[in-house]
Amino acid sequence: MNQELMTLDFWQDTVIYEGKAFPIGTLACDALNVPADTIAKMNEHCEKINLLLGLLNAGQDIVIVDNLYNSSPKVIDRIERITGKRPVFVEADCCDRAAMDRLFSDYDITGVIHFAGLKAVGESVEKPLLYYRNNLDSTLTVLEVMREHNCHQFVFSSSATVYGDQPAPLYETAQTGGCSNPYGWTKFMIEEILKGACRADLALSVVLLRYFNPIGAHESGLIGENPNGIPNNLMPYITQVAIGRRERLTVFGDDYDTPDGTGVRDYIHVVDLAEGHLCAIRYAQAHTGCEVFNLGTGRGVSVLEMVHTFSEVNNVPVPYVIGPRRAGDLATVYADPAKAKQILGWEAKKTLADMCRDSWRWQTRNPSGY
Ligand code: WQD
Repeated sequence: MNQELMTLDFWQDTVIYEGKAFPIGTLACDALNVPADTIAKMNEHCEKINLLLGLLNAGQDIVIVDNLYNSSPKVIDRIERITGKRPVFVEADCCDRAAMDRLFSDYDITGVIHFAGLKAVGESVEKPLLYYRNNLDSTLTVLEVMREHNCHQFVFSSSATVYGDQPAPLYETAQTGGCSNPYGWTKFMIEEILKGACRADLALSVVLLRYFNPIGAHESGLIGENPNGIPNNLMPYITQVAIGRRERLTVFGDDYDTPDGTGVRDYIHVVDLAEGHLCAIRYAQAHTGCEVFNLGTGRGVSVLEMVHTFSEVNNVPVPYVIGPRRAGDLATVYADPAKAKQILGWEAKKTLADMCRDSWRWQTRNPSGY
């Protein structure tokens, strides 16, 4: 039985097929002709569920693996509610060599999408060893087990933070390294590991997806980003302030060299991100070697623009104060997304208003998270 190992962050609740995004509730099972069964490893947040749900809907046998460090097993219930099928869930860690070996032994895995990694810039500055250990160890473990089981396709969730502090827009040909935080260094190191692995193993096919700032949720409001504890990232913090779980947002600095002085980022809807992954899977199946793509919109949005847009779109106040800069933060980061459009046929379609609306729907339907 052919399997495709996918480690998913369940941001997604829309399946992308043949370049079209299907809100998961409307996906016809026969719309997806996915050849292999799939094993999915849940990652920090329940984020890329669309991909998983869509493959489920296509009749794939899914095994979800997650260490639940920063996610909830209740997502499985939501998956079943959305698709009518309950995937097998295995609580395990991608760093657990024996567990990964068992997975590859139990299933004939044809490819891996690896999202398992810690991803908060601020937290990585406070806990660098945790980030190096988890992000590097999980990747090396999965790669070694893949090799032992003759599995050659690997799509990696990388990050714009590998570009370090360089003028935007950022092109895939830009120099990488010079990262401003340990999180970014882990992604840079993993990219270098993968490039070297492809030079040594000509059968290996690697796609590096450099995410910019994924936000949003599925239009059903059933699944969304629900970090444990105090949110490190902007959007979940905004939604928790708006719903009343937190008193106010602290804007980390308004003295950057940006139009309004606050940090500028390239926010991308998780649905668009899902589509980028399906395009990447297909690319990996048809090529060998290592290829890198930016997954961003090409548009920079400041913290205050995000706050005001969120308030206006959802007609809800977001109290905030201006605080000091956060260690590791950069002023302006946004993508040039042309390569993904040219080679993968992918581009982001959702607007900032869509991201704010969908994030808020998730939070209002889940005031305390899962
Ligand atoms: C965004 C902006 C903050 C929180 C993210 C992911 C990382 C990677 C890169 C994918 C910054 C400001 C935030 C708050 C604030 N993505 N902010 N108050 O740091 O760009 O990193 O994108 O791999 O995984 O974490 O995102 O959401 O933390 O910050 O003012 O309470 O919002 O200073 O300008 P960041 P973020």
